[in-house]
Amino acid sequence: MNAAMQTGAEEFKSAARAAWNQHAKGWNDHDAEIGTWLRDPTEAMIAMCGIGAGARVLDVAAGAGGQTLEIARRVGPTGFVLATDLSPAILDFAKEKARRAGYAHVETRVADGEQIGVAEVSFDAAICRLGLMFFPDPARGLAEMFRALKPGGHACTMVFSAPEANPCISILMATALKHAKAPPRDPFGRGGLLSLGKPGLIDQLFERAGFARVATTKVNAPFRLPSAKHYLDFVRNSASPILQILGPLAESARKAAWAEIEEKLGAFTTPHGWVGPNELLLTLGHRP
Ligand SMILES: C[S@@+](CC[C@H](N)C(=O)[O-])C[C@H]1O[C@@H](n2cnc3c(N)ncnc32)[C@H](O)[C@@H]1O
Repeated sequence: MNAAMQTGAEEFKSAARAAWNQHAKGWNDHDAEIGTWLRDPTEAMIAMCGIGAGARVLDVAAGAGGQTLEIARRVGPTGFVLATDLSPAILDFAKEKARRAGYAHVETRVADGEQIGVAEVSFDAAICRLGLMFFPDPARGLAEMFRALKPGGHACTMVFSAPEANPCISILMATALKHAKAPPRDPFGRGGLLSLGKPGLIDQLFERAGFARVATTKVNAPFRLPSAKHYLDFVRNSASPILQILGPLAESARKAAWAEIEEKLGAFTTPHGWVGPNELLLTLGHRP
């Protein structure tokens, strides 16, 4: 990354921090729905990394701590979990949850995932659930995870896969851009929701960071909610890039955009509620 790109990346991260600070409560309020949506893929990440009693785990972009608590339960009091995130406001929710659960073996640290600054070779596993795609330089994020791992340790990330397998995200983005009279965006653009969904990209990034035995598994993870309205409520309460696109519009234009989005997302209504198709990539790498 050259100096101009580096400056751009820092500005991007400041904006991301502000957005996640602002939406920390909204994300945390949806904890139960997120937990149900991501239960199986989270379980798979923990199993792939071989996380068990006594393990030391680095949780990158931990957010409100959904996966942190699950990992803390697995590693038990002889283990350790360091939950890190760019946003202090969202990480406070993780800290409070760990305190309430009585998990003295969980610590939190506000840190950019591209510069976590933990001691080298100090963790058995590193995970990052739905965070790495937001990094302007995901290769640096993976290099940090690699550096933190002990030889023999595993890293696992969860990101969204290709646009066609995640139609709700594509519909949100295309409809918002249309109402904002903005040109279409490259779905794989840096720091975007689908930025790591390009086939083969995340494996290459893991390998370049030094990981061996890299393997990506596609996981079907439909988002099941009572209605499309519930999904929109979730989107409005997360730091979705859609909010930045629609933010500057006049209220009537914004309302029209949300109405069209809701109508289009209504296509995923089934006799058993709303089922938003969603595909995730779980990538595992091993530090030799
Ligand atoms: C979609 S949330 C996921 C949170 C949590 N891992 C979960 O699955 O519930 C994305 C998180 O990534 C964090 N994030 C974004 N950019 C980051 C960066 N450069 N370094 C660390 N965290 C970052 C945000 O603050 C936010 O908490």
